[in-house]
Amino acid sequence: MASIKLFGEVNNKPVYLIKLNNGHIEAEFISLGATIRALRVPDRSGNMVDVCLGYDTAEEYMTNDGYIGATVGRNANRISGSKFSINGKEYKLNANEGENQLHGGIEGFSHKCWNFSCTENSVTFSIESPDGDEGYPGNLKAAATFSLVNSTLRIDYSASCDKDTIVNLTNHAYFNLSGQGSGAINKQLLTLGAESYTPCRDGNIPTGEFAPIINTPLDFSKENSLDFALTSLSGTSTEGIDHNFVLSSSPAATLYSEETGIELSCKTSLEGLQVYTSGFLTKRNGKDGAIYGKHHGICLETQHFPDAINNPHFPSPIIRVGEEYKEWTEYSFKIR
Ligand code: GLA
Repeated sequence: MASIKLFGEVNNKPVYLIKLNNGHIEAEFISLGATIRALRVPDRSGNMVDVCLGYDTAEEYMTNDGYIGATVGRNANRISGSKFSINGKEYKLNANEGENQLHGGIEGFSHKCWNFSCTENSVTFSIESPDGDEGYPGNLKAAATFSLVNSTLRIDYSASCDKDTIVNLTNHAYFNLSGQGSGAINKQLLTLGAESYTPCRDGNIPTGEFAPIINTPLDFSKENSLDFALTSLSGTSTEGIDHNFVLSSSPAATLYSEETGIELSCKTSLEGLQVYTSGFLTKRNGKDGAIYGKHHGICLETQHFPDAINNPHFPSPIIRVGEEYKEWTEYSFKIR
């Protein structure tokens, strides 16, 4: 059953905590940012382990950087120069990372209070974003439904708008399959359903090229420990992995912790996966007494390619009037 409690308050608005438990896995969400706050799954001994980072208070979600657990929109990832054109009209967005826009702007969906409704094993968060919000065209309605199905957390995204616009929603959960608060993820094993990625220039903006991952530290086409990539890409502009992979097979990603025996596999309708190994996660207090720091979690952000709107050869993030954006992502757990 869904249980609902008051979690806190931001800008004089209540923030609710919603808990779902289907007897296999247990998930907690907060209405601020349509955020995954916790995800408890059994380890090989049957003990429930919380595999997602999170905070104790609504204020920390509002003021800390890092988008921990949040649903990110209207447009996840970066838009170069904070501008784009549709139908020959240029739109100027709010910049929040140098001259570029990251994750929907200064106050994107991750920092807004969403409405919600529950069923026994699901919660649907919905939001209305007015014409011009962060610079985007059109009155947009968006929703994200999180459902527990056996040992899977499934997310269904939808959106529609009264003007031609762009939309690219993702979830920014930080996974640590040895348990949130257990430290760095170097020893965890990653496999990706990708053979290429979109290389970037300054500001982590795609050059528009596709490059093979073979013979690079990003080669996870076969299962590999994260350690080599995290060590060899430390001190670079991505401080580990912060790259968009071009998905070519399913699952998009598989992550495994030998410590707990927990394996996560990620499937999606989307064509891109930003893997972010939390290279910029500065030391901070997490929930339940945990201390977080660099490389303490991994985000598997399913999405359209970064800056797709300014790269016409990338799959388009445009939704036209009368069209509906509909995408899904599943995070499934089992013991190996
Ligand atoms: C995304 C970006 C990263 C970083 C995080 C938030 O994953 O790609 O560069 O900005 O969000 O800290």
